Amino acid sequence: MLRDAAVLIDGDHIAWVGPRGDVAAHHAAPLQEIEIDGVLFPGFIDCHTHGVFGAPRLDDHERRALGVDYKAIAAAGGGILQSVHDVRRRPEVELASLTRSRLAALLKGGATTIEVKSGYGLELEAELKQLRVVRQLAGELSATLIPTFLGAHEVPPEYRGKRAEYVRLVCEEMIPAVARERLARCCDVFCEPGVFSAAESRQILTAAARYGLALKLHADELEGSGGAELAVELGALSADHLAAISDTGIRALAGSSTVAVLLPGTMIFLGKRSQAPARRLIEAGAAVALATDFNPGTSPTLSLPLVMALGVSQLGLRHAEAVTAVTINAAAALGLAADRGQIAPGCVADLVVAAVDDWREVAYWMGAGVVSAVWTAGSACPA
Ligand code: NIG
Ligand code: FE
Repeated sequence: MLRDAAVLIDGDHIAWVGPRGDVAAHHAAPLQEIEIDGVLFPGFIDCHTHGVFGAPRLDDHERRALGVDYKAIAAAGGGILQSVHDVRRRPEVELASLTRSRLAALLKGGATTIEVKSGYGLELEAELKQLRVVRQLAGELSATLIPTFLGAHEVPPEYRGKRAEYVRLVCEEMIPAVARERLARCCDVFCEPGVFSAAESRQILTAAARYGLALKLHADELEGSGGAELAVELGALSADHLAAISDTGIRALAGSSTVAVLLPGTMIFLGKRSQAPARRLIEAGAAVALATDFNPGTSPTLSLPLVMALGVSQLGLRHAEAVTAVTINAAAALGLAADRGQIAPGCVADLVVAAVDDWREVAYWMGAGVVSAVWTAGSACPA
């Protein structure tokens, strides 16, 4: 924590940071000076969202309130498949316009880098349509968008009873097409009993790695199935969710560079009382990141600072751990730790101001919108 500090930005990068009295010694050209009132953070990184979808899923929400659980709703044709039906029919322009305003809201809350998954198409054209929306918006919004292919989010209805064929389609047609058009950086799978098994997830991620995609895994979200161990075995960037992780899974993550991405908003929105064992993960030596998991079924939140507050109150993180979890650790969960997630020379000049007195308040005012200004790549984002 530096007081009376200055950050020198040169173009889109941070050139220097230190005591403000020393700035003069570190630059030659005339300076444009901007005075900050509050606390300056590295731009926040939302390393797990399902940001491209159509309508909200209000019926699922109410059914859950009345006691029906997530998997029962999905089995009855609600859940992910309802969003799939919607995305398949919705024109690309419409999806782009819905997604634009949602991602803009995330950016306003300080998320200067946002991972965005596909996974509501579950057929080649509709998956490509989602990823093209991400590519288009990456050119329009000032946030950096990191696209992830999640064709294995669920088995689509037309492949019920033929799941091996769907896995083959994902491996042999979808992944090659996504890679050919360079539409994704990462590949993810929903590894969960009743969705994709650990063996199927291994098959899909192995195919993705052959095409040069980085790996991520929805692991041990509701029931354990060795997802964390699999993510480590495959050298994935992250294992995400982990509310049902085993002791072996914790040890595996602790001994690896795979980041544990925790999503407390999801468990809250699902009405669950359990959360991932964040303290045990940290004490074992794992790197913990936090993300919104923004999606219509289980986490319709667009505030990373809200998730930080939940990280403290629900997961037992210290405020400093919550900040680390949405900056440097979240950068590592996307393979971007070399130049994002810190205010340090050589890093991309993505910065966030919180209008607070004490830095810990950024993970305290629950849902209050403390972020007052955002810069990406050295330029101020419109308020
Ligand atoms: O991360 N777990 C799988 N995928 C999402 C939920 C997607 C949905 O319900 O639409 C999640 O929670
Ligand atoms: Fe998710």
